[in-house]
Amino acid sequence: MLEIARVSVAYGQHRAVDDVALRVAKGEIVVVLGANGSGKSSLLKTIARVLPSAPGGSVRLAGREIADLPPHAVVEAGLALVPEGRGIFGELTVRENLMLGAFARRARAGEAANLARVLALFPRLGERLGQAARTMSGGEQQMVAIGRALMSAPDILLLDEPSLGLAPLICGELFRALTRIREGGIGILLVEQNAKRSLAIADRGYLMAQGRLVGEGDAARLRADPAVQRAYLGHFDAA
Ligand SMILES: Nc1ncnc2c1ncn2[C@@H]1O[C@H](COP(=O)(O)OP(=O)(O)OP(=O)(O)O)[C@@H](O)[C@H]1O
Ligand SMILES: [Mg+2]
Repeated sequence: MLEIARVSVAYGQHRAVDDVALRVAKGEIVVVLGANGSGKSSLLKTIARVLPSAPGGSVRLAGREIADLPPHAVVEAGLALVPEGRGIFGELTVRENLMLGAFARRARAGEAANLARVLALFPRLGERLGQAARTMSGGEQQMVAIGRALMSAPDILLLDEPSLGLAPLICGELFRALTRIREGGIGILLVEQNAKRSLAIADRGYLMAQGRLVGEGDAARLRADPAVQRAYLGHFDAA
């Protein structure tokens, strides 16, 4: 279980994230919806400790405070981030990219089993283990990025706009993979602009605007809410 409270991020005078609280349980997909610049990436980065948060915030993982840990210790604690733009290494092979995720001490003993799970989830990675990651399609690179995060055996997976720039077909495949990851008991915090697709697989959702949470609820209720549909209409149409 991930629980955050009073989390803020400032870039100089600009408050990109303002007093956010949310929770993600084991085996749950939670989506944060928000327009460009609403603070979604800043929120994920500060949870993963890639970005410092303002004092006073709390990030708890299974009851343990992790807000003051360095990023590698956060991975050891069970949190893995798939960053915006994927952050994979194009010159390395698919296998080498996946193995970077297995570096965490918590993941070493289970490395072979974790790799088998990732390849069962994304069979086309198995066919391309020796291929340079940069030669893969955008969707396949996203699979590599998610696979690498899973190699660290996380309890909570943070995903920053995994569907961005992907064709609907591959996007559907990725989102189905997320539901299978959930079945394995991992909690997923998904940041998205694609409201229709993400609410279709999510259990709950939060709405973010200008750094603040402005709404929350069951995914089914958010999907049926005319105000949500209005606010995210473009993305409902696009999917
Ligand atoms: N490194 C930075 N320095 C200064 N301001 C930043 C920095 N990164 C983000 N911001 C600002 O913080 C706000 C939130 O940005 P953030 O990237 O978190 O939003 P987002 O919701 O992820 O947007 P997008 O949908 O475009 O990915 C924006 O106003 C942005 O300009
Ligand atoms: Mg972003």
